[in-house]
Amino acid sequence: EDPELLAAFEARVAADDFIEPKDWMPDAYRKTLVRQISQHAHSEIVGMLPEGNWLTRAPSLRRKAVLLAKVQDEGGHGLYLYCAAETLGTSREDMIDALHSGKAKYSTIFNYPTLTWADIGAIGWLVDGAAIMNQVPLQRTSYGPYARAMVKVCKEESFHQRQGYEIMMAMANGTPEQKAMAQDALNRWWWPSLMMFGPPDANSPNSAQSFRWRIKRDSNDDLRQKFVDITVPQADYLGLTVPDPAVTWNEVKGGYDFGEVDWEEFYAVVRGEGPTAKERLKARREAWDNGAWVREAADAHEAKRRARLAA
Ligand code: 3HC
Repeated sequence: EDPELLAAFEARVAADDFIEPKDWMPDAYRKTLVRQISQHAHSEIVGMLPEGNWLTRAPSLRRKAVLLAKVQDEGGHGLYLYCAAETLGTSREDMIDALHSGKAKYSTIFNYPTLTWADIGAIGWLVDGAAIMNQVPLQRTSYGPYARAMVKVCKEESFHQRQGYEIMMAMANGTPEQKAMAQDALNRWWWPSLMMFGPPDANSPNSAQSFRWRIKRDSNDDLRQKFVDITVPQADYLGLTVPDPAVTWNEVKGGYDFGEVDWEEFYAVVRGEGPTAKERLKARREAWDNGAWVREAADAHEAKRRARLAA
């Protein structure tokens, strides 16, 4: 690559400029953004499946309406992010192919089953809580379309987190059986939520370049620590116990010490060995195939519209 162009690019990034689609950018910058944004979008779309499982089983009309709104939001976040990735020259078909073929990743968190209604509370509270932690800094990521997409996503994510915590409060203050369900959901979702921040900094192959090009502004471990520091008091308030006996306040650090994530489990689920990985990809392939007629109809409609304009 032209060293002058590269130097000018790096100076702009260092000056906190936003890089826009028509700007010159190193191929590696484009490539890593397509990687991260498309996988972020895949995570949003696959993330609709675990919660979708409870739309027809919600305990009240209000809970059903709130969950419907959240699942619709996630779909919107996915489409928003696919569009942001397309500004880098990739196509929707290429990204979807990469997901369906297993070449592209999506967040491991969505490969765990939603066994009870309390899981819907734990997902909103912990998964969307972790997503907020990770997405707020991305509002200032160096690629303009990605940063701007994050502004809207973060506003909606806060509603997702609050509705989840409200479900956990209702159950933690409910019958002993409901409180036990809330504790069981916390036990099953706590560690997979910590894995959402990625591997330890010492083993994060993309971090160095993502930091240099200001795609990433906080490290995986720093955001994980921030999430623990905010979430442990929220569990205490619910009267629930985080399933990590090593959690203790460290006055010197001004944060909680906590136990080691099971990285074996993490890499196994990243490899596609998660409990529901096969169902998730099967559901996505089927949705894509069953929705082909909608895409064909939209294409035909657009062709007619263009023909009318050209006539
Ligand atoms: N699940 C699956 N793969 C993961 C992962 C996870 N929890 N954490 C890391 N990985 C993958 C990375 O994608 C990378 O693989 P790749 O090079 O093939 O893409 C590899 O593990 C090494 O990780 P790195 O730390 O080197 O990768 P990054 O620098 O990209 O950091 C990240 C990982 C923090 C997830 C970063 O990609 C990121 O911030 N992505 C945007 C946010 C995002 O995708 N969040 C996922 C959940 S979306 C969500 O929660 C929506 C909400 O509505 C529920």
